[in-house]
Amino acid sequence: MKAFRVRLARSGLELFVAEGRSIASVLQEAGVELPTSCEQGICGTCRTTYLEGEPEHNDFVLTPREQESELMPCCAGSRSELLVLDL
Ligand code: FES
Repeated sequence: MKAFRVRLARSGLELFVAEGRSIASVLQEAGVELPTSCEQGICGTCRTTYLEGEPEHNDFVLTPREQESELMPCCAGSRSELLVLDL
């Protein structure tokens, strides 16, 4: 997965997700509270709404309709350079 940025809509915090990293691990490293469990896109624990951008969904939980507004930060990448999360 290529690198991209994530912005947290509520705080304005912007973080760089390097190639090979997960959004969840980058958020947690920055001190953002994000519960995770399986970290494989299976359990649905990390489910997060996004507001802008085009995620690359790699989970086994969300339906195509849900994928229009939600993503799994433990395994999602991004097709756009920026993803804005509702966090
Ligand atoms: Fe299980 Fe993300 S932690 S789907």
